[in-house]
Formats: sequence, structure tokens, C-alpha cells
Amino acid sequence: MRERPQSVGVLILAAGKGIRMRSDKPKVLQPLLEEPVLYYPLKAASEAGMRNIAVLAGYRGELVEEYVKRDWPGTEVIWQRDQLGTGHAVKSAQGWWKRYDNLLVLSGDVPLVRHETLLSLRDEHIASSSACALMSFIADDPAGYGRLVRLADGGVRIVEQSDATEEELLIQEINAGVYLFNTAALSGVIDKLTNDNELGEYYLTDTVQLIDDTEGDIRVVFCGDPEELVGVNTPNDLARASAVLRKRILNSHMENGLKCMDPSTTWIGPRARIAPDVIFEPGVQLWGKSSIGNGCKVGAWSTLRDVSMGEGARVYGPSVISDSEIGGNTEIGPFAFLRMGVKMETGARVGRFVEVKNSTLGEGVKALHLSYLGDSSVGRNTNIGAGTITCNYDGARKNVTSIGDDCFVGSDTMFVAPVKMGDKATTAAGSVITKDIPDGSLGIARERQTNVDGWNERKGIVSGGVKKAGD
Ligand code: UD1
Ligand code: CA
Repeated sequence: MRERPQSVGVLILAAGKGIRMRSDKPKVLQPLLEEPVLYYPLKAASEAGMRNIAVLAGYRGELVEEYVKRDWPGTEVIWQRDQLGTGHAVKSAQGWWKRYDNLLVLSGDVPLVRHETLLSLRDEHIASSSACALMSFIADDPAGYGRLVRLADGGVRIVEQSDATEEELLIQEINAGVYLFNTAALSGVIDKLTNDNELGEYYLTDTVQLIDDTEGDIRVVFCGDPEELVGVNTPNDLARASAVLRKRILNSHMENGLKCMDPSTTWIGPRARIAPDVIFEPGVQLWGKSSIGNGCKVGAWSTLRDVSMGEGARVYGPSVISDSEIGGNTEIGPFAFLRMGVKMETGARVGRFVEVKNSTLGEGVKALHLSYLGDSSVGRNTNIGAGTITCNYDGARKNVTSIGDDCFVGSDTMFVAPVKMGDKATTAAGSVITKDIPDGSLGIARERQTNVDGWNERKGIVSGGVKKAGD
């Protein structure tokens, strides 16, 4: 008879304040490549195929809960109202985890752990039927971590920094804060934890010796890559983790085909997707849930956030684009700023010093110089002349400008919204358009020019200057 596969619950500890981070924000919500630190263990667990995941919230837990509910639907949030230590944390969730055969405990502040590592921990734990498998690594600087003390009888225990003897402080093998418990074994010892230590906390690490004492088998799974298991406790740790992660992400995109001219100045967030045949000039930043299609080239010092870009689009740097959907074969920049829901259809072009906000530009639209298009729609093949402004804000409300297909908008046109321009229409340069323009018409709204004969001669102006006595 085949045995039933063992169930695994995953509990991510995220209730602590993180005093060493010196911030009002919970440590697990500090940004690491623009995603909360907590994003990473959640991602590793879900990439490992784990389905039963809970996050333990406590200090400013409403913020943690809001994040988890928004970005990780299906993940449980369990509360630890008072944060009395990691052992107390795990006990607070006992009502949830006792239904599983095994419990994977992750620390919300150990973000670089890979899903492959979690899988090998699980396999080793299940294959050896251990009561607890935990991960260790060798830290160059073990300060702040729990030391793994290997006992003469083959057993292990963990001693925290503040309780360690001089001799124990020299141990470089440390506890990574990643454990897989057999839940029956854990239930057998969790109530025996005391807070009889320097910090007066209930330590999860004490369960290791308690299990060992009750003849349970403890497995230490050693990880050869110390960068993978660093704990993020201080702003310095955060910066170091960011450097490791940044390289890891860049390398994986380059392995997949990205031609990155200068990896030392390029930043790519963990949620970005990039097709193989893409070129990044130096200084590109790509954040959020962005996706870049094949054949795109992103120019130097451009920042893109939550942007989807079709095939063959070209961004000249520097340009800044956020929350936008950019069609294929489009051209943007240099010095363009697109934000808050811009949609550019195939072949549209936005040029130098042009800002576009919450607007749709149809196929083949050109807006090449010095313009602001806000809350507008521009029909296909329309040309927007230099210096065109949609006056979308009347001081109280945002209003819409609608410009038709195949229009010619003369330079320096002001559209005082709400206003509509029909198809195949024209505006005269320098017009302030306050009334709708019908299809096929010219809208002209400016003073006629007057020429004053002999003006220069009367004023004594010569080649742009005024004639002086003796000249
Ligand atoms: C912990 C381990 C240490 C290990 C290190 C690895 C203990 C006692 N020590 O130390 O052996 O080397 O991690 O990074 O476990 N948390 C709660 N509730 C609490 C307290 C903490 O949810 O009451 C959470 C924190 O938010 C954090 C995690 O547990 O995500 C670890 O807590 P932290 O205080 O950072 O433990 P360390 O001192 O780093
Ligand atoms: Ca920590």
C-alpha cells in the first residue's frame, strides 16, 4: 500500500518589530528591490509548490495583513498579539499548524532563501523521518545569530548570542532560522519552553534541545552558500541583501538573453519579465510588474515601473515611464515622462520633453516636442505640434480632451478641457481651443497679426539694438 504523502504547512514569522532597523514600519515590510522583505519568503515557499502558507502578524500587523491580503490571496494571517519571542510566535499559531504532518518555519527576515533549498530540506526531513531538520551555514561574521553547538553525543543545541559563553561566541556555524518540524514532535515540546534567558523571550531555538532530549532525531542541513541565508536585521543587512539579490536577478535575465551594457548600474526588480532579445543601455531601472517584449531597446538612465512594452519598442534615455501599456514599434524620449495609465498603440511616438498622463495615443500618433497630454485620447495618425497643452485641470476637476483621427494640431495649441476635436481637423498654431471642433474643420482662436510700418526706424532700432549718440 502506498503511503499518503505527508502534508506540510508553512509558517512565516513576521510579527516582530525589528528594533535594529530603526523604523516605525515592521521590518518585514521594508523595501528590498522595491518589494517588501516578506515578499521573498512568500515567493520561495510558493515556488516550492507549498500551498498551505500562513504569515504571523503582530507589530503593526494590520499593515502586514493588508499586504498579504492584497498580494498573496489564499495565504492565512495569524496574529501574535504580544511578541514574546520566536517560540511564543510558533505556539501562537498551533491551532493552525497542528492539522499538518510537518511545519516549515521560515523567518520573514531571511529573504534570500531559494525554493530549491526549501525542497531539499523537505526531502531530507521526510526521507530521514527526523523530528526536526534545520538549516545552518558558516557566517564570516556570526554576530547576532544563534550559534549551533554540536554536542559530544552527536546531538545539537542552539545558543543565542546574548546567552553564549566566550567559547560559544567563536562558533561560526549558525542557525539560519529555517526549520522543518514534525508537528507531533513540536507539539510535544512547545509548552515546555521557558523565557529563562538574558532577553526574557521564549526562543524557538530551545525546542531543538528539548526534542533532542526526548530522543527525537535532529537533522542539520548545511547550506554552502552563506549569502542565501543572511538575516536582515539592520539597514546595513538590507543593503547587503539588496546587492546579492540584484546580482542574482540580473544574472538570471542575462542567462535568458538580456544584453545588459552595464550590469553595475542596472537595477531590475524581482517581478519584472524580459524577453530574450532586449538591450538595456547603462543605468536602466525596471521595477514592479513590468514586462518587456522582444527587440526592445531601453536607453540610458531610464526608469520603468509597472510598464508593459510590446515588441520592438524603443525608449531613448533618459525617460521615466510608470503604470503604462506601450505598444509595439513605438518610440519614446529622450526626456519623456509617461505616467498613470498611458496607453500607446502600435507605432506611436512621444519625443523630447513630453509628459503624458492617463491618456491613450492611437496608432501612429506623433507628439514629438515639449507637450503635456493629460486625461486625453488622441486618434490614430494625429500629429501633435510642439508645445501643445491639454489644460485638463480647472482648479476643481480634471477634464477630458478628445482629439480625433488624422488631425493636425498646430504648435502651441491649448485645449481647454472638456473639449473635443473631430477627425481630420486642424488647429492653427497658438490657438486656445475652448469649443469643440467639428470633423474636417480648422479651429483658430488667436488675435490676427498687425504689422506696424516703419516701427524700427522711428524707435531708432538697428540690428536689434538701439542707436546711441556717436554711433
Ligand atoms: C533568530 C534565531 C537565531 C538565528 C536567526 C537567523 C531565535 C531565538 N533566534 O534570531 O538563532 O540565528 O534568527 O536569522 O529564534 N518574530 C515574531 N515574533 C516574535 C519574535 C520574532 O514573529 O515574538 C519574527 C521576527 O519578525 C523575525 C523572526 O521572527 O522575522 C526572527 O526574529 P528575530 O528577532 O529577527 O530573531 P534573531 O535575533 O535574528
Ligand atoms: Ca532576524
